[in-house]
Amino acid sequence: MRPMERTFLMIKPDGVQRGLIGRIVGRLEDKGFKLVAGKFLQISDEQAKRHYAEHEGKDFFENLVGFITSGPVFAMVWEGDDIIALSRQVIGKTNVKDALPGTIRGDFSAHTPHNLIHGSDSPESAQREISNFFEEKELVEYNKTLSPWL
Ligand code: RTP
Ligand code: MG
Repeated sequence: MRPMERTFLMIKPDGVQRGLIGRIVGRLEDKGFKLVAGKFLQISDEQAKRHYAEHEGKDFFENLVGFITSGPVFAMVWEGDDIIALSRQVIGKTNVKDALPGTIRGDFSAHTPHNLIHGSDSPESAQREISNFFEEKELVEYNKTLSPWL
């Protein structure tokens, strides 16, 4: 059996300030994903720049780093089959005008930069982003007893 895929998901400062941590995590739990690690923290400028390295040089880069460091975030690692693609479906499109109702962004967000949650876009990004926020020993291995039913 191939190992389950992991992704890095992070509730952004707007989601924390709006008191949406519980509801957003609830949607990820509802989908059946497995939580592997979680951390509430204020991220540094350097960590933010590493996180968004793929966007360095773009006109919105400074704003993006400013936004993601503007308050605490809730960083998480989740696991599941095809979780990178599936979690991005649950999150919804980047532009709020394209984010469909039923998605996190579609239901809770009305302005594009304030789109509540980040999700890795490839296995390579996921690995890089996870190691930017977590040490290997912080990733908890356990058996989710509900798994055969999902
Ligand atoms: P994220 O990385 O935060 O999960 O978002 P995403 O994959 O849906 O979108 P991405 O293209 O990676 O962009 C990262 C964040 O940058 C802001 N953004 N602004 N043209 C723009 O002004 C623009 N494009 C992207 C958004 O806040 C997006 O979430
Ligand atoms: Mg992205």
